[in-house]
Amino acid sequence: MAEKFNRATFTRNFLKNITRIKNPDEMLADAKNSSLEKTLGVWDLIILGVGAIIGSGIFAIVGIAAAGNGSSLGAGPGLVVSMIIAAIACVFSALCYSEFATMIPVAGGAYTYTFATLGEFAAWMVGWVLMLEYAIGFIAVACAWSNHLMQFLQGFPGLPEWISHPPVWMTNDVFTVSKMVAENPDITVPTFFGVPVCINIPAIFIVLLMTAILVKGTKDSAKMAGLMVVIKLAVIALFVIAGAFFVRPENWTPFAPNGAAGIFAGAFLIFFAYIGFDALATAAEECKNPQKDLPVGIIGSLIVTTIVYVLVALVLTGMVDTSVPVSADFLKAPMAYCMMLAKQNWAAGLISIGSLAGLTSVLLVLEMAATRILYAMSRDHFISKRFQKIHPKFKTPALLTWTVGGLAVLGILTLNLSVAAELCNYGTFTSFIIVCLAVLILRHTDPNRPRPFKVPFSPLLPVLGILCCGGLMVYKSMEAGSSALLFPVWLGVGAIIYLLYGFIRNRDNENRVHRELVRGFLRDEESENK
Ligand code: ALA
Repeated sequence: MAEKFNRATFTRNFLKNITRIKNPDEMLADAKNSSLEKTLGVWDLIILGVGAIIGSGIFAIVGIAAAGNGSSLGAGPGLVVSMIIAAIACVFSALCYSEFATMIPVAGGAYTYTFATLGEFAAWMVGWVLMLEYAIGFIAVACAWSNHLMQFLQGFPGLPEWISHPPVWMTNDVFTVSKMVAENPDITVPTFFGVPVCINIPAIFIVLLMTAILVKGTKDSAKMAGLMVVIKLAVIALFVIAGAFFVRPENWTPFAPNGAAGIFAGAFLIFFAYIGFDALATAAEECKNPQKDLPVGIIGSLIVTTIVYVLVALVLTGMVDTSVPVSADFLKAPMAYCMMLAKQNWAAGLISIGSLAGLTSVLLVLEMAATRILYAMSRDHFISKRFQKIHPKFKTPALLTWTVGGLAVLGILTLNLSVAAELCNYGTFTSFIIVCLAVLILRHTDPNRPRPFKVPFSPLLPVLGILCCGGLMVYKSMEAGSSALLFPVWLGVGAIIYLLYGFIRNRDNENRVHRELVRGFLRDEESENK
């Protein structure tokens, strides 16, 4: 009987602990003590937002989303509609992010909001899943950056062979190289105990460079992102203006060669191109005026991006007939390909530079978001306290940033690019769904908390956000690729780490706080008795 009672108590305590909610006031108090510098204004936020969003999605994936012939299920000229559908799916989540970011403007984004609504275990799991979006996404974009660099260098006929065509094992991951070797046994690759040694040098280089810039300072990073944003927007404007002269309206018919299915497939693919606006919420603690500036930054960067994407889609599908089989180069780098087709090689070269700049700014913001979430998680005793250490001169979490950079290098050595990109999508969908859900919960549990920005038409818009993102996730899972299998494994590993480390450390911390309270109480009583 006694044993049964103990087990019941244990279960009750366990459930109470894992659903422990962190009060938003406690979070705001923690953030007040933070040493992160408050340097970001509204323009910095819009630049960081556009910097995070416009990248490989519009410079590469857009080609696949547009190709709407019999052999590929893209949207064709209907890509414009796909762009708008994907943007609408993001807007619901962007509104929810804005409500939270202004109500609880502390580092951590979706992770923090989950702690305030769904409790300790759910918060850890969301933080863990966000590492898929930001840290694994960082690895995927670094590999894409390496591919774009090689494409760019191969465009220069005069360059030495070792620069324009280095051995494949120096510019690819082990899986890609193994596939290449299977197709062409003449390719030689060094091995270590029978395992091919592949070191993607450009990807590692860009990861270390981004890490060093982030360590040096958030304001400097925003400046650097600003420069990259100007370059990429300039080359996209160049493409739209120069390309408009080569648009042939007959290419816009048939408008949807694959019907509604093609348009939705295009929307799913191009969703990746919008990922990144949510990263702004993770930098809330570094904003000068988060209540006013964050909604403008999040929604403003989404609007700028949607306008840019729609213009690109119109020109792209007007220059090339996407309802018939398209060239492989169109699928890899569609804007540059269109310019080559129009015999404007100079513009194609500039677009390649712009795509490198675009990917660089995405990298910067993804790494920054990953470190800010881990920073918040360290404050909540989920990972070592050492990671909260701020660099005395640069005022950034230097140890944490270098750790993320180091882990990304390990990821580059072991992960496959497309799997990393798909895992990044899973992480994003999950975090968007949770944030929409969290808005609904907190409206119910804490209705009187001041909300400088409120999602209009709640609960309709958050529910639509959940349905859109959930639908896209289910649609993707039906393909049963390796990412669909790896995602549950990632969740399982996360749960085990929590039970073995985060759960125990949080209880230790509660006991310590309790002991301090008792000691303080006894001291007070003693002095009263004297
Ligand atoms: N939206 C980012 C990109 O397109 C992830 O690269």
